Amino acid sequence: MSERKIQAVVLAAGKSQRFNTPKTKLLEKICGQEMILYVTKILDSMHIKTTIVIGHQGDLIKKTIQEHHHDSIKFVTQETQLGTGHAVMCSRPTWQEESILVINADMPLVTSDIFEEMIAKHEQNKSAITFAIAHNPDPSLGAYGRIVKKGKSIAIVEARDFQGDVQEHCCINAGIYLIRRTFLENSIDKLDRNNKSQEFYITDLVKIASTNKLPVTTVNVPFDCVRGINTLQELWAAEQVKRAELIKFWMHKGVRFSLPQMIHIDLYVQIGAGTFIESGSNILGNSIIGKNCTIHGFSSINNSTIEDNVTIHSHSIINNATIKKNAQVGPFAHIHLKTTIGEHASVGNFVEVKESTIGDHTNTKRLSFVGNAIVGNNALIGTGTVTCNYDGFAKYTTVIHDHAHIGSLSALVAPITIGAGSDIAAGSVITCDVPANTRAVARPHQINTKNNSAHPEKEDTAKAASNSPRKKRTEQQVS
Ligand code: UD1
Ligand code: CA
Repeated sequence: MSERKIQAVVLAAGKSQRFNTPKTKLLEKICGQEMILYVTKILDSMHIKTTIVIGHQGDLIKKTIQEHHHDSIKFVTQETQLGTGHAVMCSRPTWQEESILVINADMPLVTSDIFEEMIAKHEQNKSAITFAIAHNPDPSLGAYGRIVKKGKSIAIVEARDFQGDVQEHCCINAGIYLIRRTFLENSIDKLDRNNKSQEFYITDLVKIASTNKLPVTTVNVPFDCVRGINTLQELWAAEQVKRAELIKFWMHKGVRFSLPQMIHIDLYVQIGAGTFIESGSNILGNSIIGKNCTIHGFSSINNSTIEDNVTIHSHSIINNATIKKNAQVGPFAHIHLKTTIGEHASVGNFVEVKESTIGDHTNTKRLSFVGNAIVGNNALIGTGTVTCNYDGFAKYTTVIHDHAHIGSLSALVAPITIGAGSDIAAGSVITCDVPANTRAVARPHQINTKNNSAHPEKEDTAKAASNSPRKKRTEQQVS
């Protein structure tokens, strides 16, 4: 906290070379949130003034940070990426407080508890530098700096420069350092590039402090919390950890999952007790799922509100929509673009509802498109109904009032209003408004003719085709 005389410098200028993707790794999302925001939001919650060192794709990083933190975070630029030590040098004009908390931006699983513990021990020991370490004996670990102790001296040796036995030195540098400003000012210019990467390493500050017999403190933290993300594989591993954490949290709150390892839940999702979520489901963005809902497998719910007691059948996609209490959706439904489905309503298989409001107890059970429509309560939209909302230039509204009944395979050519209690005959193409309590039939009359080619023998098929009643019917209709 600022009253504790601490400020933070987040190192975010690196090139993300080991990711092999065009975009900076720091904007890759983990459970729906950009990697760098995990660190900056913790610092914000602890009221620690923060500067971010940007460089590679700095403008993109700055834009994302400003969207979430307004102007509370400052930026400095590292024009050429000469290493983490050099990135800290670039932040020198911002150093003001008694100690500077330097953090790698690529550690999204870090917690405020770790920072708090480091701050407490740093003060207690009057340390020149306090840094976080973790144990992991896995020799195939990524490129972490190793802690090397000899007698009373301590140093961090980077993976590329390390030559000893990894299992003997199973303690790694996490990438979080709390450094007394006076020590930093006196020692930062002593960093050099005499290493395999030819970079300035911030980690060499530990050796400098130790050589000068200044107090150095290490804080042991769980490895999972300080996983650094340098590769897509490490990103995947970190997301697994975060996702498992979220699933366990919601289980504890009374949410049941089938095959939880196959369910993805974003960070800001909320789920009510008694809800059951099946495997393959993705609950994304700021979605809110109510109590006692069932989300069947392979459904995707993004930035949507699902009220209590709703059933979402499998393979449904719900994006930016509200499904009210006791409604049923799917299977294979697509509900999107600011749509609201009313209480006890039913939207069935292969139905798309877009930018529309469907009233309470209204059913559209199968194979329909409802777009730019306002549908009242207790209406029935038959199989294959299409709201023709677009003429190639603009979108038009369809209004269907309460208790209206739209027969199967009807086309409602918007702008159009179907009055309350009216009944549209199946197969109608409705181009004019239908008043309330009216039956509208808008389809060609049926013509029955004698079928001259009933059950033709195989060799007579060509002849029969030339006499086809369908052909004759067309001619009659044209005339
Ligand atoms: C670093 C540590 C290593 C530690 C590991 C923990 C150094 C030299 N090594 O290695 O001891 O175990 O983190 O995850 O610090 N960055 C810049 N400018 C640069 C280079 C990097 O701002 O010129 C930023 C990156 O964007 C990144 C952070 O610094 O957010 C760490 O850099 P990275 O290259 O990931 O360091 P590691 O090799 O992981
Ligand atoms: Ca890293």
